[in-house]
Amino acid sequence: MQHKLILGQILSHSGNPFSKEWQSVSHFSARGGVLIANGKIQRIGEADDLRRDHPDVPVMDYAQGLIIPGFVDAHMHYPQTGIIASWGKQLIDWLNTYTFPEESRFHDPAYAEQIAGRTLDLALAHGTTTLTSFCTIHPASVDAFFDAAAQRGMAVVAGKTCMDRNAPDSLRDTAQSAYDDSKALLTKWHRRGRARYAITPRFSPTSTPDQLAALGALWSEFPDCLMQTHLSEQLPEIDWVKGLFPDARDYLDTYEQFGLLGAKGLYGHAIHLTEREIARLSEVGAAVVHCPTSNSFIGSGLFDLMGLAQTQVRIGLATDTGGGSSFSMLRTMAAAYEIGQLRGVAIHPSQLLWLATAGSAEALHMSGQIGCLAPGADADLTVLDLASTPAIAQRSARAESIWDTLFSTIMMGDDRAIRATYVAGDKRHG
Ligand code: GUN
Ligand code: ZN
Repeated sequence: MQHKLILGQILSHSGNPFSKEWQSVSHFSARGGVLIANGKIQRIGEADDLRRDHPDVPVMDYAQGLIIPGFVDAHMHYPQTGIIASWGKQLIDWLNTYTFPEESRFHDPAYAEQIAGRTLDLALAHGTTTLTSFCTIHPASVDAFFDAAAQRGMAVVAGKTCMDRNAPDSLRDTAQSAYDDSKALLTKWHRRGRARYAITPRFSPTSTPDQLAALGALWSEFPDCLMQTHLSEQLPEIDWVKGLFPDARDYLDTYEQFGLLGAKGLYGHAIHLTEREIARLSEVGAAVVHCPTSNSFIGSGLFDLMGLAQTQVRIGLATDTGGGSSFSMLRTMAAAYEIGQLRGVAIHPSQLLWLATAGSAEALHMSGQIGCLAPGADADLTVLDLASTPAIAQRSARAESIWDTLFSTIMMGDDRAIRATYVAGDKRHG
């Protein structure tokens, strides 16, 4: 057995701080540690106890560094890494001007390989150990992403993006080819090592009813897979959907009618929801994914985190790069906090951290495996430097609690705050 002891300050959750008092489910040790064996967490405890009980195990001591679960990004687009932070457009124009031309380049497997590797390395440098990505319509873009993740030992979720209308010729498949290609890819990749496949209709404006029905049928054949898409991100998009699906009760119904609503469904953005949509998402226990930097960058709106947290809907947190403007889940937590403030609520740092780790893992149906510090979980860990810049250091010097300290890193931190990133027990960054 290969053992390793990682010591430092530790923060972990034993439950959901949105449904219970955050104090009762948040656990801090100023001198703790994680014992890792063969890529998994074997034990969490006080540093002295772990050292005493395991005297011969190699030790990495991060002292004041804060050990947390690796961040779990529940929705992003690796093919958009090259066009992140593109100026001046809202959703539909942004897709047509920047996104679709860039995604067309992924017919070239060498380009897909280059951007997949670049994206995963950027994620690791930002403390993110799991990405949930849309690929492009090209099957090779899916292979490139899963291959690059396997090389780095990372647990990722991804799927071939399907589009058979309202997209350039170079980015259109058909109902049949989307079904066939997705089936071949999920058969190849789903649960191969740490990979998980998500059936991926981009959003209902770019799929015909035939394509949505084909992908709904595929999901019913492979219900263990996830299904990811976009829902109710911008008002002009919602109007467009109404015109394209005149018989649908609402946007969610354009998925529901075709078998694309379920507990393993991940619905990105979900900002402008009707009461019926919220009720249905809650009844089936589906997941919505909050993408706060994207929602302000593209001008989409203010996600109702606290309202949805009162329902049975699962909630993940995500960068949505390249519509999102950062690879950092710290920056993403900060944006979630800011949007909360604009809605009149203050999200506690314990809740922000939970969303970026265990909440996203729950959305992906990977609770207990990733996004947590618990015996039996995969040893995907991030170590934060809580004084990574002079501005943060001077603020944390007068902090009165670990939450106060952590909050300044959440609000002002970036990749400089990541001291180390461990994937399945191996140090991959720092
Ligand atoms: N809706 C459909 N496609 C996309 C995309 O690539 N990014 C975002 N933010 N929204 C979308
Ligand atoms: Zn997206």
